[in-house]
Amino acid sequence: MEIIEAKNYDEMSEKAAQLILAKVKQESSLVLGLATGGTPVGTYEHLVKDYQENGTSYQHVHTVNLDEYVGVEKENPTSYHTYMKEHLFQHIDIPSQQTHLPNAMANDLQAECQKYEELIEKLGRIDLQLLGIGVNGHIGFNEPGTSFASTTNVVELTASTREKNACYFDNPFDVPTHAVTMGISTIMKSKQIVLLVSGKQKAQILFKLLTEPTNEQVPASILKQHDHVVIIADQEALMEIKQIR
Ligand code: F6R
Repeated sequence: MEIIEAKNYDEMSEKAAQLILAKVKQESSLVLGLATGGTPVGTYEHLVKDYQENGTSYQHVHTVNLDEYVGVEKENPTSYHTYMKEHLFQHIDIPSQQTHLPNAMANDLQAECQKYEELIEKLGRIDLQLLGIGVNGHIGFNEPGTSFASTTNVVELTASTREKNACYFDNPFDVPTHAVTMGISTIMKSKQIVLLVSGKQKAQILFKLLTEPTNEQVPASILKQHDHVVIIADQEALMEIKQIR
């Protein structure tokens, strides 16, 4: 597990974008695993800026996102489909049929989860999976207690996750209760994982992830078992771990 230290959020974002761009340039038909939430916004901004200035092409790249809210239409401003379009896809030359997110509006969600697993398999392994981390240690929407063996599945969001994400909705009652998320074992099959951690509110969970034994109460702790994980963290997020190092 490599830890790359960044001064602040912007430097973290720039380093993450550089890492992704190096991969895209090296292997044009890359499978990129993407995340949503506040943390990767800056990374996507740097990718868009690079596209405008240098024209790095995504014509042969496929993307698979970690998750989507159940019951939220793709076109809804709060969906992760919309998030990805607005922050990245509409600004670069990736063909839309090569961008994938779970269809959490499907009538048969179990069948959709199975289909998503099959899609990832068909694409080959994810070359680089970008991750953020919840303050409770979740990756994707795999909340504490999720089996490390989980595959893409429908999950119930914890009260703390719903509270934290309420800022993206007009009304706290609109925050979905469930999501479809890539499972932990699906994420772990990725060839490389890049975890972004920013801000003092993430310092405690980063400390736990790095110091506590791997356990299902801290879903991200499984990342220690992966042989190619890069954590890019800013100084605020590294605050607690630095006190003991
Ligand atoms: C997003 C995702 C989540 C977020 C996590 C952190 O697709 O799967 O695991 O990465 O909730 O969210 P932020 O970045 O908003 O703190």
